[in-house]
Amino acid sequence: MSWGDGYVTDINYDAGYYREQSPAHLRLACLLCGVAWDVPEEGAHYLELGCGQGMGALVVAAANPSWRVTAIDFHPAHIAAARALAREAGLTNVTFLEADLSDFAESAAAAALPEADIVTSHGVWSWVSPTVRAGIVRLLRAKLRAGGVAHLSYNALPGWQGMLAMQRLVRETGLRLAQRSDRQAQAGFEVLHELVKAEASTLTGDARLTAWLRGIGNYSATYLAHEFMNGHWSPCWHSDVVAALSEARLEFVGSGMLLDNFPELGMTAAQRAIYERFEDSQTRELVKDVCLGRTLRHDVFVRGARRMGAAGRDAALRELTLALCIPADRVVLEVQVAAGKAQLAKEFYGPVVRMLAEGPAAVGALLKAPGAVATKENPAELAGLLTGTRQAVPVWRPGAPASDSVLRLNAALARRMGAAENLSRPVAAASAALGAGMPCSVGDLFVAGRALAGDDGADVAPWVATLGSALDEENQGRLREALERARDQMLPLLRQLGCLPA
Ligand SMILES: C[S@@+](CC[C@H](N)C(=O)[O-])C[C@H]1O[C@@H](n2cnc3c(N)ncnc32)[C@H](O)[C@@H]1O
Repeated sequence: MSWGDGYVTDINYDAGYYREQSPAHLRLACLLCGVAWDVPEEGAHYLELGCGQGMGALVVAAANPSWRVTAIDFHPAHIAAARALAREAGLTNVTFLEADLSDFAESAAAAALPEADIVTSHGVWSWVSPTVRAGIVRLLRAKLRAGGVAHLSYNALPGWQGMLAMQRLVRETGLRLAQRSDRQAQAGFEVLHELVKAEASTLTGDARLTAWLRGIGNYSATYLAHEFMNGHWSPCWHSDVVAALSEARLEFVGSGMLLDNFPELGMTAAQRAIYERFEDSQTRELVKDVCLGRTLRHDVFVRGARRMGAAGRDAALRELTLALCIPADRVVLEVQVAAGKAQLAKEFYGPVVRMLAEGPAAVGALLKAPGAVATKENPAELAGLLTGTRQAVPVWRPGAPASDSVLRLNAALARRMGAAENLSRPVAAASAALGAGMPCSVGDLFVAGRALAGDDGADVAPWVATLGSALDEENQGRLREALERARDQMLPLLRQLGCLPA
């Protein structure tokens, strides 16, 4: 098909959820970076660009009934799937628009939209043509209000530099060997693997590429096609993205990958000394990107950032509430960071996690968790490390119970996603307390759906039979354990966070 300006349009993208697009996560990123947060808790307008099948927009709409949510994608199949889910869940505050971002800013539909408080875009910028990127910038300029926040993820340089040959080879050979783009990706990767075996030097000499290829079995052909078969895919330098968005008067705030806002975690002392020689954030980010080799960035911008002093920032952080998003007994204090392994101090984080195991708590209270011994009171470190390691999530409306729209959407998501072919997708259940999605596995979502239908899963065998019919015995065993854990450990968390009735 040729209508996509080089973007893959002959197969649909897999549905997925990305926590970096959640309002509470963006608020935490802003506060960690010392920028005031200006988005109202009620009545905000959330706009998503390139929404795919719309899971992110749907959970934000369901979890914030007073918000207006608008989500745009040019693929009619994506928009149809998202609208069907919205209908099934009875959501009336979300609109999915089938529109091309290259010229949407100039359309009557754009003119009719209110200013946006938050704009997010995951997996679009570095995959689309310069014309589409320019359209995104004009839309941000026209529609993001002063003080509003933008999130933009993109494939980054120099992280991808050693893998550029891989993409070009996969795309060019794939185009010649197959018709449909998922098959093209598969055919292209077969050629690539053969060339690796034949010791093609540009493919074997890059450690990151070798490691990446080792994990390739985790990705679906659909994902690989949308990742590598686009005509305009081009990873970007952070400073080029900052320059482009400055046309919309956006200022870079920091990273939505929260640990990246702690240079002491990612970089060695020698690297940090060089980083600290520079005062401007673009050069600092360049040094960081060169040291960390990030392949994906989640950048957060504000239109008119208001910088806070350390005391104001810490006071705002102390008021934020955190919740565990994994069972307490799975929390680990030794975490992998770019510079190696980092150990979170047991004397402090042990009691903090014990307190969180009882339920969501404010950062200020966690800093004084009974028995916690800290060398200094550091709300940014506590909030940043627990959420940055994906073990906790920031809460938007502490204590909010599941609303009807949340329950209906979760039932619909469980029906739609609870299938064997989705098992590896990153998904979420809508959460009234998080004001977005509670990140979880497809198994967790399936079990939540069963609980909503009144099935307590005393015997999980029928669940294993439904979800795991295509799996071999060993993997069915793993699935059984995962479903039992979901029933016993995740359901209480989902109830606590207003994804299910308490
Ligand atoms: C890699 S997918 C990411 C989808 C979604 N954000 C997610 O992460 O699941 C990129 C999306 O951008 C959409 N897209 C590509 N070019 C576009 C354009 N010119 N206008 C609107 N949407 C576009 C595609 O249809 C696709 O859904």
